[in-house]
Amino acid sequence: MRHGNFEEETGRSYNWQVLSHLWPFLKESRRRVLLALLCLLLAKGAVIVIPFLLKHLVDSLDTAGAQLSVWALAGLVLAYGGARFSNVFFGELRDTIFGRVTERAMRRVGLQVFRHVHALDLDFHLNRRTGGLARDIERGTTGISFLMRFFIFNIAPTLFEIAVVAVILLTNYGASFAVITLLSVFVYGLFSLRATEWRTQFVREMNEADSASNTRAVDSLMNFETVKYFTNEEFEARRYDEELARWELARRRNRLSLFGLNGGQALIIAVAQTAMIGLAGAGVRNGEMTLGDFILINQFMIQLFLPLNFLGFVFREIKGSLANIEKLFELLAVKPVVIDRRDAPDIKVERGEIRFDAVSFAYAPERPILKGVSFTVAPGEKVAVVGPSGAGKSTLVKLLFRFYDPVSGLITIDGQDIRSVTQASLRRGIGIVPQDTVLFNDSLFENVRYGKPDASDEEVEDAIRLAHLDQFIASLPEGRATLVGERGLKLSGGEKQRVAIARTLLKRPPILVFDEATSSLDSKSERAILAALREISADHTSLVIAHRLSTIIDADRILVLQDGQVVEQGRHRELLEQDGHYAELWQAQQKQRDAQDHPH
Ligand SMILES: Nc1ncnc2c1ncn2[C@@H]1O[C@H](COP(=O)(O)OP(=O)(O)OP(=O)(O)O)[C@@H](O)[C@H]1O
Ligand SMILES: [Mg+2]
Repeated sequence: MRHGNFEEETGRSYNWQVLSHLWPFLKESRRRVLLALLCLLLAKGAVIVIPFLLKHLVDSLDTAGAQLSVWALAGLVLAYGGARFSNVFFGELRDTIFGRVTERAMRRVGLQVFRHVHALDLDFHLNRRTGGLARDIERGTTGISFLMRFFIFNIAPTLFEIAVVAVILLTNYGASFAVITLLSVFVYGLFSLRATEWRTQFVREMNEADSASNTRAVDSLMNFETVKYFTNEEFEARRYDEELARWELARRRNRLSLFGLNGGQALIIAVAQTAMIGLAGAGVRNGEMTLGDFILINQFMIQLFLPLNFLGFVFREIKGSLANIEKLFELLAVKPVVIDRRDAPDIKVERGEIRFDAVSFAYAPERPILKGVSFTVAPGEKVAVVGPSGAGKSTLVKLLFRFYDPVSGLITIDGQDIRSVTQASLRRGIGIVPQDTVLFNDSLFENVRYGKPDASDEEVEDAIRLAHLDQFIASLPEGRATLVGERGLKLSGGEKQRVAIARTLLKRPPILVFDEATSSLDSKSERAILAALREISADHTSLVIAHRLSTIIDADRILVLQDGQVVEQGRHRELLEQDGHYAELWQAQQKQRDAQDHPH
């Protein structure tokens, strides 16, 4: 499957490329970034001054050293305090200033992903796993914020700081200190790099387990009723627990590998520190260094290895973030199959003539659904499509709406190939009452308004009346403000259908498509709604899919779709006279009706 093979497409090297995606966000807030960098510089400056201040303090307190006046001593103490405070203060200020940049980036990326996911085709959405997808996106955006903050403010500055310290040590105390510093940093870096690379697999494993368990939970909760119908709570719990167990195991592996990494890093640092302390101690003993020098070196070492340790943490986290972001960018890299041509014009629907010309289509190549379907719906005509379940009736609608492109053949509206115009304009021109209506978890009224978000309350009321929803709404304690529940599950099937009809009536597009639009209604409501629809669709082109043939007797033409082909077409009377599939279907339904009307 096209969406399945992320893993092979993106090797490890993909990882760092992600950083280039962040650049535009930094450029967007250039001033803030610069300001934050200035704060960083001030904080780092303060931290480098501290060991020197300490050295002078110690040396002047040491009886053997040069004595300073009380005032100079007080000055040193105050400077020391000031430097300490500046370090923390400018660090905090930097984070505060930069926070806006990361939040803005998260917002931008969040929106970009949202738009992108909406632009992907139906196929992607039928295959997606909502819970896992949501988790991937969430982890990805958090990862971006982390990456931005730490890449700019930790990795680069820490490396810089290390270089500065090494130079100071080299010029003041000779090569050995500088060599130990650089060597330990080098070993530390190499070790961290290797160990972190090795650990990435565990992070990835953990993320996958996390997404999978979330997918399970969401899927299971969305099917709450079904779970109850079959009393499968235990089964669901077990399946969920299997995922959780996988997650637990992945976490454990992850933690153990972290233990290895941290332990190794601590060892490297400890060895370096021991060597430097030993060397400095020997220097003081030999009289080559003062006590102040010893303090200075010790202080630099603490200051150096603290960020180094932090660097290890940051590097680890960055690799983790990259693994998180990876999924997000893989998602962004998925290309929709149905796309607008470049410079595609909007469609012009005037008369509303629909033509299918030898249209063939298959969801999967091995199983053709439509095999050369041709028909025309003349402007203003009402054409019905009937046929057995699974014949491909709803598929016709999906093709007309361009959820998919035909494998071969042509679909035109008013002579324009629907592949040559923008999808948005095409879809604006067609109103569909789908076979299964799913509603937003919002009020009834707003769900109807969804057909035309800028409609006035009066317009919505009109549509509600036409769809015969008004009586139902009047019977509700909370009236039109009633919430319909997730996916509209608090409404009956027929009520949902009427909401869908009202939406489409509000939209009032030139072309109307009804896919079993009244199948869940009782005969009386159905008749009333059909009358309303007939009135409205009088000057519209309409395509009606129906199982109950009694609802389409008045159609200008009836197409019988079977095995992916139009096997008969004509008016109701003509088809009955032909005595073929349609006549057979009609008689079967008549018999059924008689049986219902006159039960034995
Ligand atoms: N996204 C999909 N991927 C693969 N196969 C699909 C997909 N959607 C539909 N099908 C298959 O295509 C065939 C035609 O489906 P379609 O929904 O068009 O049938 P229909 O004529 O509307 O049936 P019904 O009267 O039951 O609504 C069915 O066999 C169905 O299993
Ligand atoms: Mg269908």
